[in-house]
Amino acid sequence: MRFLLLFLCVVAPVWCVKLPPNFLKCNRSQPNLKECVFKAAQHGISQMYKPYKKVRFPSVEPLEILEMSSSINSNLIKLNEHLKDCKFFGVSRVNLTNFDFDLTERVIFAVGVFPKVEASCGYKLNGSVFTIPIYGEGVSKLDFTNFSMSLRLTYDEVTKNSKTYAKITSSKVDGMADNIHVEIGNLFNGDEDSGRRINQLINDNWRELYDDIKDEHLEMPAQMFATLTAGFFSRVSLEEMFD
Ligand SMILES: *[C@@H]1O[C@H](CO)[C@@H](O)[C@H](O)[C@H]1NC(C)=O
Ligand SMILES: *[C@@H]1O[C@H](CO)[C@@H](O)[C@H](O)[C@H]1NC(C)=O
Ligand SMILES: *[C@@H]1O[C@H](CO)[C@@H](O)[C@H](O)[C@H]1NC(C)=O
Ligand SMILES: *[C@@H]1O[C@H](CO)[C@@H](O)[C@H](O)[C@H]1NC(C)=O
Repeated sequence: MRFLLLFLCVVAPVWCVKLPPNFLKCNRSQPNLKECVFKAAQHGISQMYKPYKKVRFPSVEPLEILEMSSSINSNLIKLNEHLKDCKFFGVSRVNLTNFDFDLTERVIFAVGVFPKVEASCGYKLNGSVFTIPIYGEGVSKLDFTNFSMSLRLTYDEVTKNSKTYAKITSSKVDGMADNIHVEIGNLFNGDEDSGRRINQLINDNWRELYDDIKDEHLEMPAQMFATLTAGFFSRVSLEEMFD
């Protein structure tokens, strides 16, 4: 799959800031550092439904993506699609089950469950699913129930004004949901019967289709989370996060 994220609505960071006073700070030499970091992360994420103005971290409720294009060429799906005005609801309601900030290896690893994520996008697509031709332009909706996801970020340390900042160098996501439901509106320029049949076909076989495209399609959330965290880390130094 070829993937291009044209623009994520994250305000470019300009100056460094202090974290809000209620942010939990951990001491890198404390014995239970891992537990402290886990608590700080879960607490920080639960605050993200409102924007952190000072950190210029956008509100992730909803998380908005202005435009993206992708081209899928898997066994079951061949598709060119262009998405715009995407809104993701439910991203801040993640329940972290594991979080590790490894300051020595420079790796951030998070595992969590999103109970419900609802996405809505303007779309334009053309291609085939199970060899059935499919095209259309309109609004598509995508619901994930209990999406469990792991995120692994690596970073380099860069020094600016005698402070150390984490610069994200790679991002990898893996995940699976208990259920995925799609509703692609206005397929075949409004031929409702054909549209309903294709939606039904996709929803009846979502697991097989997801497995078929997931390795490449998960690049999208990987880039999303890399962009979000990169914005945060370019403003908040490691000294501000850890004693
Ligand atoms: C979050 O996950 C933990 C561990 O799996 C679980 O005990 C807890 O009930 C979950 N909380 C919510 C709000 O789902
Ligand atoms: C879909 O793409 C194919 C191959 O590029 C093209 O022949 C066909 O006309 C397109 N269909 C629509 C509805 O755009
Ligand atoms: C999602 O997880 C919750 C809590 O573990 C569970 O009660 C619910 O049945 C799950 N939903 C689906 C669709 O499996
Ligand atoms: C961090 O923990 C170490 C070891 O417990 C202690 O010596 C040091 O004073 C702590 N630093 C801060 C800023 O609390």
